[in-house]
Formats: sequence, C-alpha cells, structure tokens
Amino acid sequence: MKKIYLIGIGTGNPEHLTIQAINTFKKVNVFFILEKESEKNEDLVKLRKEILQRYLPDGRYRVMAIKIPERKKGGRELEVYKERVASWRKQKAEIISNLIKQEIADGETGAILIWGDPSLYDGHIEILNYILKEGWADFEFEVIPGITSMQVLTARHKIPLNFIGESIRITTGRRLKEIHPDDVKNSVVLLDNYLTYRNFADSDLHIYWGSYLGTEEEILISGRLNEVLDEIIKTRNEAKKNNGWIMETYILRAGE
Ligand SMILES: C[S@@+](CC[C@H](N)C(=O)[O-])C[C@H]1O[C@@H](n2cnc3c(N)ncnc32)[C@H](O)[C@@H]1O
Repeated sequence: MKKIYLIGIGTGNPEHLTIQAINTFKKVNVFFILEKESEKNEDLVKLRKEILQRYLPDGRYRVMAIKIPERKKGGRELEVYKERVASWRKQKAEIISNLIKQEIADGETGAILIWGDPSLYDGHIEILNYILKEGWADFEFEVIPGITSMQVLTARHKIPLNFIGESIRITTGRRLKEIHPDDVKNSVVLLDNYLTYRNFADSDLHIYWGSYLGTEEEILISGRLNEVLDEIIKTRNEAKKNNGWIMETYILRAGE
C-alpha cells in the first residue's frame, strides 16, 4: 500500500516544526510541493526546500515542485466563489492522483508539505478524501499537525486567543465583510486580500495584526484600530511592494 502524509510545517520558522513532523520527514521517499505560479509561491517553495535540507541533510529523498493552475479569480457572490474553489480543487485532485500513481511505488511514502496546519483553510484533506472516494488512486493517508498562522500571531503579540469561557470566531476577509462591528467581539481573520479591517475604522475595536509571521520579514502592529489603521495600510503596502507579496493574519477584538 502507498502512504501519503500531509505534514503541517508551520508558517516559515523552521523551529516551529514539531518533532513528529521531523520524524515523519525521515520516512518519506518523495516530497510534493504544490504551488500556484507567483512570486509569493516561489519564495514559499524555496522556504520548504530549505526546511527539508535542514532536517534531512543526507539528501536521500526526492522533491518535486509542481506548478498548479491558477484558480479562476472573481466570484463576488459566495456561491460562485465556492463553485470556483471546488472546480479548482478537482483539478488539483487530478494532478495529485497522477503523482500518487506515477511517482510513488507500492510500499513507498509520499508527503505534501502544508503551510501552517493542514486543517485550517487548506484543501488537501478534502482533496485526498475526494481522490479515495472517486477511486482515482489507492493509498492511505495521515495528517501531521502544524503550528498555524493564528498561533504564531497570538504568541508574537503575547495575547490569549480567547477570554475565559468565551468563544472565538475564525473567519476570512470575505466573510468578515458581512459582520456588524458589534458582533465582531473576538474574530481571527485569515485570507483577507481586501484590507477588510478598513470597514471597521469607526468602531472601538482593537487589532492585533501580523504579516510574514514566523519568517525573517515578520511585521507586527497592534492598537486601537482607528489609531493604527493608517500605519498598517502604509506598512502593508510598502512591504508588499518590496517583497512582491504579502500574507497577513489579524485579530479584531472588542473591550480591550
Ligand atoms: C490558505 S490559508 C492557509 C492557513 C494555514 N493552513 C495555517 O494553518 O495558518 C492562507 C492564509 O493563512 C494566513 N497565513 C499563512 N501564513 C502566514 C504568515 N506567515 N503570516 C501571516 N499570515 C499567514 C494568511 O491569512 C493567508 O491568507
């Protein structure tokens, strides 16, 4: 039987890898690095190769960096967006099932290195289940957890994720747009390409913002949103211009 590991590798700091992740690396014959073609993803491929070199110095493994097609952009309505993501994931499923069939021999092990943790806004668990359900390839798989961007964010800002006995919301920029400022309370936001925090400039909310978390480029800003908003936008735009890309995660919080 072939085996696939989905390994969470954190957000860029090689010291954030778990011992379980490093021990799993040692069992792998071939690593697949799947990224869309872009400046950002070139950097992320490089970072993952560096992580492998650091923990597997003997180099007795294969690495395949595979370019995957871009997802169709647009889709303001949630239903259209979900359809586009589903069809993009299906394309990815075809690519991954071909890799499993062609690049892994029976009894061998493959791994896909996942940014952060495989369960948080990442499609690979669903993709592997889809391939198995459709019978496109025969294998078993295991998920190795990783440190998420939101955990690095809270650690770096030295804040807890939740208040005593309270719930938290984990959401995306797209969904945050639909939330009234009074209902934000304590929300972690990922996947925001729209600077959605600008919509809350008139509120009393506090923001804990972080970009390039876990990497050498890391930037942290926090404070009352209406006081730090301009600084965040300016810093963000400059960093994006210098690096060619940006990834940001933030928490909006009431009552601070
Ligand atoms: C496709 S999701 C993947 C999340 C990932 N699985 C995790 O556990 O953090 C990508 C989003 O994660 C967040 N993210 C990932 N890495 C980050 C980093 N180094 N700094 C800031 N945000 C990051 C950003 O919000 C980005 O848009």
